[in-house]
Amino acid sequence: MKAKSARIPRAFIDDILNRVDIVEVIDSRVQLKKKGANYGACCPFHNENTPSFSVSQTKQFYYCFGCGVSGNAISFLMEYDKMTFVEAVKALADKIGVQIPQEHMPEQRQVGLNVYEVLDKAKTFYTQQLAKPAHQMARDYMTTRGISDACKERYAIGYAPPGWDNLLKHTGDSPQTKKALLEAGLVIRKDTGSMYDRFRDRLMFPIRDRRGRTLGFGGRVFGDGEPKYLNSPETTAFQKGRELYGLYEALQAARHPELFYVVEGYMDVVALADAGIDNAVATLGTATSAEHIHSLFRYASHIVFCFDGDRAGREAAWRALKVTLPLMNDGREATIMFMPEGDDPDTYVKQHSQAGFEALRNESPSLIEWLFERLLDKINTNSLEGVAKFINQALPLLGKLPAGVLADLAFERLAKLTRTNVAELKSRLSHLRRIGEGASQDEPKAPPVRRPKVASTRRTPMQLLVSLILQFPEFAAELPNDILYASDSDVRGLALLQTLVLMIREQRLANTGAVLECWRDKPEAKMLTKLALIDYNLDKDSLLNEFKGAVGKVEHELLGEAIERLMTKAALEQLTDAEKVELNQLLMQQQRLA
Ligand code: CTP
Ligand code: MN
Repeated sequence: MKAKSARIPRAFIDDILNRVDIVEVIDSRVQLKKKGANYGACCPFHNENTPSFSVSQTKQFYYCFGCGVSGNAISFLMEYDKMTFVEAVKALADKIGVQIPQEHMPEQRQVGLNVYEVLDKAKTFYTQQLAKPAHQMARDYMTTRGISDACKERYAIGYAPPGWDNLLKHTGDSPQTKKALLEAGLVIRKDTGSMYDRFRDRLMFPIRDRRGRTLGFGGRVFGDGEPKYLNSPETTAFQKGRELYGLYEALQAARHPELFYVVEGYMDVVALADAGIDNAVATLGTATSAEHIHSLFRYASHIVFCFDGDRAGREAAWRALKVTLPLMNDGREATIMFMPEGDDPDTYVKQHSQAGFEALRNESPSLIEWLFERLLDKINTNSLEGVAKFINQALPLLGKLPAGVLADLAFERLAKLTRTNVAELKSRLSHLRRIGEGASQDEPKAPPVRRPKVASTRRTPMQLLVSLILQFPEFAAELPNDILYASDSDVRGLALLQTLVLMIREQRLANTGAVLECWRDKPEAKMLTKLALIDYNLDKDSLLNEFKGAVGKVEHELLGEAIERLMTKAALEQLTDAEKVELNQLLMQQQRLA
């Protein structure tokens, strides 16, 4: 969502990126260790045990050799704290004690609300409605479901009253607010153009991100209406494969809980909290995704999946298993817990209380144990055929485990069960992998690890210039005018180089992070980032020499081009006297350079 009105002045952003220190910004969130010229840590954006996340203080830029993420201080806050661009700029401005120039604040309060503001306003509106005398019926429903007042507060549960335009009226109808309501999925637009509230006469569960911002809602119908739960549609701000209901509230109770329960429903989370288990989260009507698990393992080393005891529950568990295996680094634990048939965590904990629920967990198998149990249930290993089938089904699954003690133990276990040995199994696994992914087509593949690009030696002088200027913006001062102002040339990348140098000079950009900021969301951003990351393993003086060498080559190229153009003209028509003089000079220059 972009505000149409005035933007933050470019100069202000440049200034912030020149003054703020990315090392401080990142270090206060992810502890950094000095590593040579740079700072390192385990990457906060993917799972790893050995640090491949690197932060350069001189470049004011971070990069992960494992997953390829990169960016400046603004990008980091956007990625890590899930801030919007404007919020990130504001946070950095606050840090160095300056204010975004008032007249340029992109959200003009008097005009209307943005998406987050309407979501927040809706949350407050729904909670107020639940308290109204007229809506005793909604409170009665809460009572029959056994939701306490404390839980109602904690989860900010509310009530969307019946009627088509309660929220619309409440938020006011400035065009910007209406647009935000639509973008947030809170209202629906008819073909005629008029709008109406999406949520009507439902119990409302706000879904919040890790920072407590409301991203969307789940609304439960009273009684047997359809659909039982109506959810906010996915928006750029709200992605179901990413968010977990109850995570914000769980983290409010404990920043690093011992474990998380992953359940299926809103009511399960709320009922568990009411029973004293305040570390449950729910997927939002979708299957558990790798991203869900990944984000949970950031806060706790143990995840307990809770499923219903029916076939659907077992299928969901099998899917969760496949997604979780690749993330089972040593030190992490996952448990698969089934409710007895007919129960869900909500009903179970109400009957058996916290202690009963935890007792059930203690009897539940670990992820790997359950994997073997399931296969043993399905396959009879008393025959040779059975053993072969068992191995062929187990291997691709165990092959998903990251190398480590857990993987070793699992392979030993498989060897024992099938009366083979680990070496044999491993060679069978690599054979399976070689003959293709055929056997595991339905399984989500682990995201490929992007390897750092090997610095190619076949780089054009133009690429070298751009790359070095990105890394040392002060080199921009060294670019001679014959290149900077050359026009009428087809040399590849020249226009980009010229823009880059003029920008650095005019805006006094002092580091890589600030320079790359000018290309945010532009098509060239990716290519420039790549050039900014090339590691030359040379000191700055040597690199300045390289730079001058490349300048010479580009000048030579431009010269050749100009000569070529005049020669062509000479061959086809007549050169003016001035052109003849020019050609002569160019040829002499070329001789000098050769
Ligand atoms: N769900 C959904 N849309 C539906 C039905 C279910 O999004 N039409 C999601 C909700 O997140 C819900 C979860 O799937 O919480 C589990 O659904 P279900 O087991 O049917 O509901 P319960 O959580 O048991 O809800 P309740 O106890 O209120 O009946
Ligand atoms: Mn239920």
